[in-house]
Amino acid sequence: MYTEFQHRQALIIGGSSGIGQAVAETLLNYGASVTVVVRNFDKLQAALSHLKQFGKVQGWQADISDRQETLHLIERIANELPNVHYLVNSAGVFLPKTFLDHSEADCDRYLNINHGTFFATQQVVRNMAQREQGGLVVQKSPERVVVKGVPNETG
Ligand SMILES: NC(=O)c1ccc[n+]([C@@H]2O[C@H](COP(=O)([O-])OP(=O)(O)OC[C@H]3O[C@@H](n4cnc5c(N)ncnc54)[C@H](OP(=O)(O)O)[C@@H]3O)[C@@H](O)[C@H]2O)c1
Repeated sequence: MYTEFQHRQALIIGGSSGIGQAVAETLLNYGASVTVVVRNFDKLQAALSHLKQFGKVQGWQADISDRQETLHLIERIANELPNVHYLVNSAGVFLPKTFLDHSEADCDRYLNINHGTFFATQQVVRNMAQREQGGLVVQKSPERVVVKGVPNETG
């Protein structure tokens, strides 16, 4: 049994289904406390009902593709979650169409999610750097999962 996750805080952006929810479940099982951020209120409530059986979890509703909602989320991360050790970025959409069939609106949808993810991540890493204890950022991409450690020093 891993003990390294116990008493650690995780933030999972996109944690109401799929990869994000599976990671939330795993981290809760290993003793971390988890905050999930998702867009849809009903899905958030359903995810929390499921995840609560595994450990200490809370949920925030925010659409990471919306600039105002992302600014509010960044404020909450700064003020309410300064001690996050693990950030998992799994918010995303999969549009089942070919590259040639994508419209400008489709492209904007992808880009806006990436924009919000970028700046929410920046705030989490800023907190990690200020704490000088490092942390871990897991970033899903269309092809792979990228894991990056944040050094335990500022700069
Ligand atoms: N599953 C795979 O095998 C796989 C492989 C490679 C890459 N990916 C990519 O990884 C991402 C996650 O995949 P998944 O299978 O876990 O998808 P999923 O089951 O659809 O989960 C996506 C999560 O992201 C949230 N989300 C979507 N848009 C959001 C927004 N604007 N703001 C906040 N939360 C948002 C969803 O919540 P709401 O429903 O509330 O919006 C949900 O919790 C997708 O981009 C997918 O294309 C998946």
